[in-house]
Amino acid sequence: MLRPRLGRGKRRPYNCMIWPHSISHGAVKTEDEHRRDICTVGYWTHQRGFVGATDGNISVRLDPRRVLTSPTAISKGMMQPDDLVITDMQGKTLAGRRNASSALAMPLLIYKRRPDVNAVCHAHPVTATGYAAAGLPLNKALVSEIVLALGCIPVARYGTPGTPELTEALEPLVPSYDAILMANHGVVTYGADLLTAFFRMETVEHFARIALVTELLGKQVLLSGEDVEKLLAARARYGLTTAAQVGAECPVTSDSLEADRVTLTRQELETLIEEAVRTRSGGR
Ligand code: 13P
Repeated sequence: MLRPRLGRGKRRPYNCMIWPHSISHGAVKTEDEHRRDICTVGYWTHQRGFVGATDGNISVRLDPRRVLTSPTAISKGMMQPDDLVITDMQGKTLAGRRNASSALAMPLLIYKRRPDVNAVCHAHPVTATGYAAAGLPLNKALVSEIVLALGCIPVARYGTPGTPELTEALEPLVPSYDAILMANHGVVTYGADLLTAFFRMETVEHFARIALVTELLGKQVLLSGEDVEKLLAARARYGLTTAAQVGAECPVTSDSLEADRVTLTRQELETLIEEAVRTRSGGR
């Protein structure tokens, strides 16, 4: 295909639909490489329907003092490398012709609290955001790969976007999880590099769909505590590094459900009901 000649000094616009279709792992890259990677991940985020219109935010930590972020009010599927904005760790713009994302306080909090994190993705993927809007965490041990990769995904309480309410709600969860649902808002994922952060977004949405299918089928068979222990031991074998905490309720296993189960005979149940009815009618 013949490509039109560009004038002297003119750069061909970056086209993430043509090149490249992949990005490499790693946080040690040139600023130009980070810019192209953010545009590519923005394109994937939009193509997969993880965002609508101009929603979402994608950023990388360039060095201890600077962050490269998507600007505000732009489709993540249409970004060019020179649309991106460089800010300091307080969100003050250092370079860029556009305004930084209004959601920047969220990644800045994560970079401050998690020195191991170099990239943050924020999006509104439909199924996972549905769980967030229902106030439901994705915390059941339903799929081995999810236990391996993320442990479980909690819900942060609602906070108005772009205000300290939102970061205050996220703050207690950030050290212990690599992916968080934000009530009535969306999802944030992060990792040592941009590809890891993006893959975690894909994993969260994929798992949300699987969890939803089990709800539709009306049956969920959870892994046991022992299964979960074995998976955690396997993390090192897969080279998985994650902050994902695993505790009594994260993920919820068949054992934790079993511990909550109360078994009564028919006779015991009838006696309980009779007592409750008697108490309600004043002991008559
Ligand atoms: P910006 O357009 O300001 O980056 O905001 C996007 C967003 O999704 C906020 O939640």
